[in-house]
Amino acid sequence: MNSFTFYNPTQLVFGKDSIEKLPAMINQFTSGTKVLITYGGGSIKRTGLYDRVIGLLEGFEVFELEGIEPNPRLSTVKKGVQLVKDNNIDFILAIGGGSVIDGTKLISAASTIDEDPWKIVTREVTPTAAVPFGTILTIAATGSEMNSGSVITNWETNEKLGWGSPLVFPKFSLLNPEVTYTLPKNQTVNGIVDSMSHLLEQYFNEADNSAVGDAMIAGVMKAIMKAGLAVQDEPENYEARETLMIGATVALNGFMRMGYNGDWATHNIEHAVSAVHDIAHGAGLAVLFPAWMTYVSGKSPERFAQFAEDVFDVDASLPQEEKVKAGIAGITDYWKAIGAPSSLSEFDIPESDFEVFADKTLFNGPFGNFYKLNKEDVIEIYKLAH
Ligand code: NZQ
Ligand code: ZN
Repeated sequence: MNSFTFYNPTQLVFGKDSIEKLPAMINQFTSGTKVLITYGGGSIKRTGLYDRVIGLLEGFEVFELEGIEPNPRLSTVKKGVQLVKDNNIDFILAIGGGSVIDGTKLISAASTIDEDPWKIVTREVTPTAAVPFGTILTIAATGSEMNSGSVITNWETNEKLGWGSPLVFPKFSLLNPEVTYTLPKNQTVNGIVDSMSHLLEQYFNEADNSAVGDAMIAGVMKAIMKAGLAVQDEPENYEARETLMIGATVALNGFMRMGYNGDWATHNIEHAVSAVHDIAHGAGLAVLFPAWMTYVSGKSPERFAQFAEDVFDVDASLPQEEKVKAGIAGITDYWKAIGAPSSLSEFDIPESDFEVFADKTLFNGPFGNFYKLNKEDVIEIYKLAH
């Protein structure tokens, strides 16, 4: 393993009674009363969560930023920064999924600087302070509720870039699995694929030894897969929703990457697609992860054989080639079983775009910590996903 320091200060409040703890949680972090709530395109109003939160915020002066898009946009973040600055906001509460939380992370940090928020994303400006914020999570997917990363899309430049800072760990996140009952089926599936992809990215890592990580990743992946099947016919299966929610959180809160970084090439490859076509992150990963696995397993098969044994309990005595195939088939069959998309052409993405996507992925040069990819490799992966 590599040397590492683990740090995660987010208070995770989990369970059916978690949301009701909101006022007490906010009071831990500010004596002020001005709260900005941020949310997406209206699902929280349709589900009744909005009214519930407004009721709990009695006694606070509430300001609102509505309309943070899936794949949150810089232009909307700027509106939020203006609201914070104009009204001297004391605390921000993000209510939603990864998009609302990621947008809020940038609002939180950019409200403390005079420059354009995009400069934080491009690392031209390093924030030294952030407005405190908490979250109420409504979809099990990104892990943003308990990490310090954020992914923002700039539609002026067609760039979708990740950034992070220890200053933007949520102060707390309130997770009630019941809130996810109302998710449309495709969003539940996107979330399952995203959380599993985070586990895959970290399983295929650069360390010589990751035995504890491998065991944790395989265990969490099996639990998510089982629960993911259960919610297909039974969206209000509490225990399955509970498993999906805690599974997605631990998949990307740092627990699974102690001692290594993981590969992360596929995330870069996907972000380049959604920067141009605005497709859901999980949907893009469903198509691209098997393509990456197929391509890279041909060059580095040992780890893929181990993966098949760890996650799909494939017989260790089988020839390596068969184990590799079984591991990849395990993922593609599972995607099919939950109804995830399987090819880029399902999104009307033409092959002529691959060159543009590949250039975007290479903005920092060859990438991928488990297997380094150059432009030709990336184009081959897009072709396999077509
Ligand atoms: O906008 P509303 O109306 O709220 O609807 C949302 C949205 O359309 C809907 N939704 C969420 N909870 C719901 C619900 N509908 C009904 N009932 C509920 N309980 O679901 C849609 C998708 O929401 P979104 O927040 O976009 O989903 P997700 O959590 O998958 O976030 C995706 C974003 O996070 C980034 C992705 O790139 C993408 O921009 N990521 C962030 C990461 C991080 N910060 O660590 C890591 C990830 O790898 C990822 O890149
Ligand atoms: Zn992801």
